[in-house]
Amino acid sequence: MVQATPFLLVLFLALGAHGLSQKKCSLTGTWVNDLGSNMTITTMNGNGDFNGFYHTAVTATSNEIKLSPLQGSRQKGPNQKGQPTFGFTVNWSFSDSITVFTGQCFVDDYGKEVLKTMWLLRSRVENIKNDWKATRVGTNVFTRLQSQE
Ligand code: BTN
Repeated sequence: MVQATPFLLVLFLALGAHGLSQKKCSLTGTWVNDLGSNMTITTMNGNGDFNGFYHTAVTATSNEIKLSPLQGSRQKGPNQKGQPTFGFTVNWSFSDSITVFTGQCFVDDYGKEVLKTMWLLRSRVENIKNDWKATRVGTNVFTRLQSQE
């Protein structure tokens, strides 16, 4: 028991230090995705509600692309452990469409933050008969455009 005490102490300290040094994934800042779209999450309040702007690199329309606002929410539950789940909506300012994204903010094996997301893009159609073709689905992976450190 006497010999085990220092060992347990070292183990406890090592595990504690590891826990403290675990980098957390933060959503605020500027991100770029695999399509070349940029988004900036500007504000995050204490409830996890956030705002920002999205500049898409692509569009399903023939309209000129414009900067569009986004609003979202980060999960605040006790089990998020620095890699939170989140969702946000982009209300496109140059088309009649809406996109909802859902995803998780991860810290990869190299300490790099990455957002793995899925999205639904809802386009407006003229009548209910065309509803079947109004929703697109896909995935996007975001990495930080510039380091916030
Ligand atoms: C539209 O075409 O009506 C609005 C632009 C939609 C852009 C989509 S949203 C999902 C995907 N990810 C992006 O970064 N851009 C496209």
